[in-house]
Amino acid sequence: MVKVRFLTTRGEVIETSGEAGDNLLRVGQAAGLPLEGTCEGQMACSTCHVIVDPEWFDRLSEASEDEEDMLDLAAGVRRTSRLSCQIELTDDLDGLSVSVPAEAHDMRRF
Ligand code: FES
Repeated sequence: MVKVRFLTTRGEVIETSGEAGDNLLRVGQAAGLPLEGTCEGQMACSTCHVIVDPEWFDRLSEASEDEEDMLDLAAGVRRTSRLSCQIELTDDLDGLSVSVPAEAHDMRRF
């Protein structure tokens, strides 16, 4: 299992886990996080935006140009922002830590 930790906008820590090969967006959604993922991984929405802990950012495979372009349109982008639908869990990512950007939580539970 690959453990993942999500930090919500309220400062809550949600620990969950997935299998190697799982998509971070799906893992977050399964844990009840407010990640819309409207386009279901087609890189056409940016509603799956997460901010990766800087310690982990460089360990992820690099974002494609299409992902970078889409991130330019996302609200609250930071240097370590990524589209969670483009992150595939691997055993090396055990302990991965990401935050949900504030903009993603409007009108939501978290
Ligand atoms: Fe739309 Fe990730 S789900 S870009």
